[in-house]
Amino acid sequence: MPMNVRSAKDFFRPLALGAPEPLREIPARPSRAIHFFDPSNEKMAAKIPQLVGTVDVLLGNLEDAVKADRKEAARAGLVAIAQATADLGGQGASTQLWTRVNALDSPWVLDDLTTLVSAVGDKLDVVMVPKVEGAEDIAYVDRLLAQLEARAGLTKPLLVHAILETARGMTNVEEICGASPRMQGLSLGPADLAASRRMKTTRVGGGHPGYVVRQDARKTSDGVDVEAPRATYQQDLWHYTIARMVDACAAHGIYPYYGPFGDIADVVACEDQFRNAYLLGCVGAWSLHPAQIEIAQRVFSPSVEDIAHARRVVAALQENGGDGTGAVMLDGKMEDDASLKQCLVLVELAEQLAARDPALAQLYAGAGA
Ligand code: GLV
Ligand code: MG
Repeated sequence: MPMNVRSAKDFFRPLALGAPEPLREIPARPSRAIHFFDPSNEKMAAKIPQLVGTVDVLLGNLEDAVKADRKEAARAGLVAIAQATADLGGQGASTQLWTRVNALDSPWVLDDLTTLVSAVGDKLDVVMVPKVEGAEDIAYVDRLLAQLEARAGLTKPLLVHAILETARGMTNVEEICGASPRMQGLSLGPADLAASRRMKTTRVGGGHPGYVVRQDARKTSDGVDVEAPRATYQQDLWHYTIARMVDACAAHGIYPYYGPFGDIADVVACEDQFRNAYLLGCVGAWSLHPAQIEIAQRVFSPSVEDIAHARRVVAALQENGGDGTGAVMLDGKMEDDASLKQCLVLVELAEQLAARDPALAQLYAGAGA
């Protein structure tokens, strides 16, 4: 265990007298779409009550995209929205309430945390912290939240979500995930991360047409013809990052998310990027526009076909002795204990989603074994 992590015996002790006990397990609440809104924008704020119940997570954004002279209005707006909106945030609410606070080196973050925890700590589910560089950033937030929770008399601990968006944060990704029992998950922050790494894309997430591999050149009698047309295949700029993030999160029992996809009009490429993240193990993505809510909630829900197949595999292995051991052939394919576990990932996700989404419950109910 690294020296800067508390002993396993103390790991779950509250960090302030009177703060709630940390959770031993991070609840698997559906969070397929984390819909960002600017609480200082009155037009956007007015639409929030209509979104409750239609989106898994609403996130009041206080950081980037909110102008410096609107930071205080955004903070106050979020408090007002949280207080006034029924069924938004807190245990059992149909839509979770998250916030993204300002960066830890900014002049606003101390007031962000102090105000929000004191005023609406019982409604906030998750605090997203941007530009996290290492375990020391999480330790700071962890202790401060415990102090604020104790002062506010909260009974449920706030969870923390880190954005992976600096090269240093990336190199410390495992220690960030394990830094506190509050750690709920990680999101990829492709814009800040690209800048921090000096990548040469200026897009907010998504692919780049220059990042390709090319078919071999055709051989000719005097060598190779490099000028003749050849197929190229665009590669995913974010594959390595997401795969590392997924491993770090899974190893620590927390959840990975794709972050923002900035090209709002390109709903097709957005869907591709979200689906790649889903297939690699992510549980959700950010939505920057109402159009992206539907994409994320559809893509991060298993298809009816996948659930029907997964249930057939589970049933076939149960019939084969009931304890999941051994192997069976199904449609010419070998299924064993490992493929049973793969199928259970999908079946359990479908159950969690069905419990909150009646339309999905109906769809999955028809996906028979
Ligand atoms: C998100 O915050 C990003 O930097 O991409
Ligand atoms: Mg960012």
